Amino acid sequence: MTNAPENIVDLIEDIFLRRGAESYLGEQVTMAQHMLQAAQCAEEAGADNSQIVAALLHDIGHYKNEIPESSLARGINNFHEEAGANFLEDYFPTSVVEPIRQHVAAKRYLCAVDSNYFNLLSSASVHTLNLQGGAMSDKEVKEFEKNEYLEQCINLRYWDDQGKDPEKSCPSFSYYRALIDSLVKS
Ligand SMILES: [Fe+2]
Repeated sequence: MTNAPENIVDLIEDIFLRRGAESYLGEQVTMAQHMLQAAQCAEEAGADNSQIVAALLHDIGHYKNEIPESSLARGINNFHEEAGANFLEDYFPTSVVEPIRQHVAAKRYLCAVDSNYFNLLSSASVHTLNLQGGAMSDKEVKEFEKNEYLEQCINLRYWDDQGKDPEKSCPSFSYYRALIDSLVKS
């Protein structure tokens, strides 16, 4: 794909419908289940609309070949969190995009500051943690805590970790359609 999409929500829905059944990196749930469950966790926690949409879209960067090249060209490493955030930032406010950009960093952060957090991680997530640099250093922690969206980044991380239950049913993408539409920048 080379051109920017005309309607971002149609494009996202199309990705969910065509590719959502793909497996999620060694987890028991599909990609769509994972992201829909993360959004469900956000909603159940009473999160605001930006946080629900951030949870729903946080792993969109795993579909790198669905993302316009113009967005990927802005990436430095194009890891999935950066690829997804760079794709979404043209269409959604920072309150949606920043927690997505930081959702891997937030895992590294929580591993550094919360001794119980590591035990919550799935084995696949422990594996990727090592590839992602492990727990943050004290210096990285201090830097991360300057983020204006620190709380939202941490919340998203917990919902990300919770959204891996193969037994749990969740709403379909269409349930969130109007909510996503309402946050698209004009
Ligand atoms: Fe995730």
